[in-house]
Amino acid sequence: MASRYHEVYESWKRDPEGFWAEAAREIDWFKPWDAVFDPNSGPYGRWFPGAECNTCHNAVDRHADGARAEQLALIHDSAYTSERRKFTYAELKAEVVALAAVLRDRGVEKGDRVIIYMPMVPEAVFAMLACARIGAIHSVVFGGFAAKELATRIDDAKPKLIVSASCGIEPGRVIDYKPLLDKAIEFARHKPEGCIILQRPQQTCELTPGRDTDYAESVAAARAAARKVPCVPVLATDPLYILYTSGTTGQPKGVVRDNGGHMVALKWSMENEFGVKPGEVFWAASDVGWVVGHSYIVYAPLLHGCTTILYEGKPVGTPDAGAFWRVISEHGVVALFTAPTAFRAIKGQDPKGEFVPNYDLSRFRTLFLAGERADPETVKWAEQKLSVPVIDHWWQTETGGPISQNPVGLGRLPVKYGSPGVPMPGYDVRILDDAGHPVTAGTLGNVVIKLPLPPGCLPTLWNADRRFHDAYLAEFPGFYKTADAGYIDGDGYLFIMARTDDIINVAGHRLSTGAMEEVLAEHPDVAECAVVGIADAMKGQVPCGFVVLNSGVARDAGAVEKEAVVLVRERIGPVAAFKTVVIIKRLPKTRSGKILRATMQKIADGEPWTMPATIDDPAILDEIGEALKTRGIGG
Ligand code: COA
Ligand code: AMP
Repeated sequence: MASRYHEVYESWKRDPEGFWAEAAREIDWFKPWDAVFDPNSGPYGRWFPGAECNTCHNAVDRHADGARAEQLALIHDSAYTSERRKFTYAELKAEVVALAAVLRDRGVEKGDRVIIYMPMVPEAVFAMLACARIGAIHSVVFGGFAAKELATRIDDAKPKLIVSASCGIEPGRVIDYKPLLDKAIEFARHKPEGCIILQRPQQTCELTPGRDTDYAESVAAARAAARKVPCVPVLATDPLYILYTSGTTGQPKGVVRDNGGHMVALKWSMENEFGVKPGEVFWAASDVGWVVGHSYIVYAPLLHGCTTILYEGKPVGTPDAGAFWRVISEHGVVALFTAPTAFRAIKGQDPKGEFVPNYDLSRFRTLFLAGERADPETVKWAEQKLSVPVIDHWWQTETGGPISQNPVGLGRLPVKYGSPGVPMPGYDVRILDDAGHPVTAGTLGNVVIKLPLPPGCLPTLWNADRRFHDAYLAEFPGFYKTADAGYIDGDGYLFIMARTDDIINVAGHRLSTGAMEEVLAEHPDVAECAVVGIADAMKGQVPCGFVVLNSGVARDAGAVEKEAVVLVRERIGPVAAFKTVVIIKRLPKTRSGKILRATMQKIADGEPWTMPATIDDPAILDEIGEALKTRGIGG
């Protein structure tokens, strides 16, 4: 069947507002919009101003009160505890309503912020939806971040309440959340009024009197009292959530997502981009702490009336490299969405794909990969072992959904390995040189998106319109800067090659090397430092810290290295995967003092590099090569 992609993309280009107004018919609105798009509000305009709606109503109630009441909405599958918990849409609604009543009782009102710091348990999803129900703004913080990172987010979002759990589970260890939560609240200048704590049997915790409420007890009381909490009408332009993502400094960016445009974009994507029908089982193997979890574990599948899977486990080791195939076959998954790193991990442990035939994958149709560049070798391995199309798609926390892909629902286009496909409706993607001039097909440059961004993208950063403007809009007037470098070929396919800023991608997780440098610089023996992302066969990239010690430091360098690793783990969290520190005598710099991070990265990766013309002292690069060699890194 011929793809409808070109026809649909052209129809969007001809009439963007008409296109999104048509897509918006799939959503229940309490009040229609005054305009589809208002170019004069917000830093670049706002979608569906004046409209009133509720995301929880569209994701839960309209299914629970209609034909899908008895259909499974959510399956929690924990590879750690072997537990399976299943919720129909009616049951999901009951859980969400009860928790919404508890939030209300704790004083949470429309517009208040609630931080959710939880492992991959259904209650994390209930908490997101309960906030949406009462018009509160949730901010989920990934469990792998340390107390200090949580504190930074508390200070920025100023939550009235935090919903958390006694523990999370990682392979071979239970992670005590309570001390992390307590420390974060102690570090933070803003103090939340209270916490709701889910006690998990693997490790319970002492509740703090006067501050903490027991999740299960309070929800049970709300259910026993048959509390009713209707979905509160909010403006389409009101924030649904804030999700912090790495910027170039230690201060993360609070990406704001609105209610109306977000629903329209996600609902459209499920059928047209992902080719999934209501009632089918969709699985995003990510974490609710990341944008993929927000969009494709929680909101998109539920808005579309699918069954979504919440998987607590890893692709390997829980218990083996067949874990993903087990989940697919057990729950009848039709589409899986994960990061290429998960497949590299599986391939590393089961290169011949020997686990695959042990499972019934007959209902499985498509594999979607995103979060980092999908290397052709991994894509081909997955295609061959699973005998399904493998779709690489490119997006960012900021966009909340794919910017480009091979649109399965509209009809697949020919595959080009190494390319995350073609721009989706809503995205006019261009490649500009550093001076802002368009480049010819096939030429590498800055990947930008012509404004306005489509519905579902961030309208701004939380309480930071100026930072939003400076970070994304200022450099290329009229365009959104993605901070990715890449090119578009003669057939209109995009190739995303690298970030143009200090962001690195570790196992599909976006991390700031600048933030790590800020932490290292706090070590009393460190004079100067630079962190770069170096190639890693499984995680894509891992951070490597180069450290210059203060003159006169007589301590054992190995001890300083160990302390530096611990410091980053304590401040940023284990998710940073910061394990390598190389002590060097001096950092390579340009004559104007800029650290030559890109050259250091090339040396560490054993790639060819040329001596930068502006380098202050060329001998430093040899010193770095030598220091890396002693650590077994580089060519
Ligand atoms: N709470 C506490 N700690 C966490 C955590 C959480 N929620 N999530 C991860 N961590 C810890 C891990 O235990 C690990 O700690 P360690 O250094 O002591 O081993 C560290 O953070 C790094 O975790 P992770 O990135 O998950 O690496 P891993 O080596 O444990 O597993 C993969 C590697 C590839 C299997 C895993 O990253 C993966 O499945 N990634 C693909 C899916 C994905 O998450 N994509 C995100 C965007 S789509
Ligand atoms: P995040 O905000 O965590 O989703 O990270 C976004 C960044 O990840 C992008 O700016 C890219 O650098 C990278 N990325 C995501 N998906 C892809 C992809 N399919 N191909 C290449 N890079 C990707």
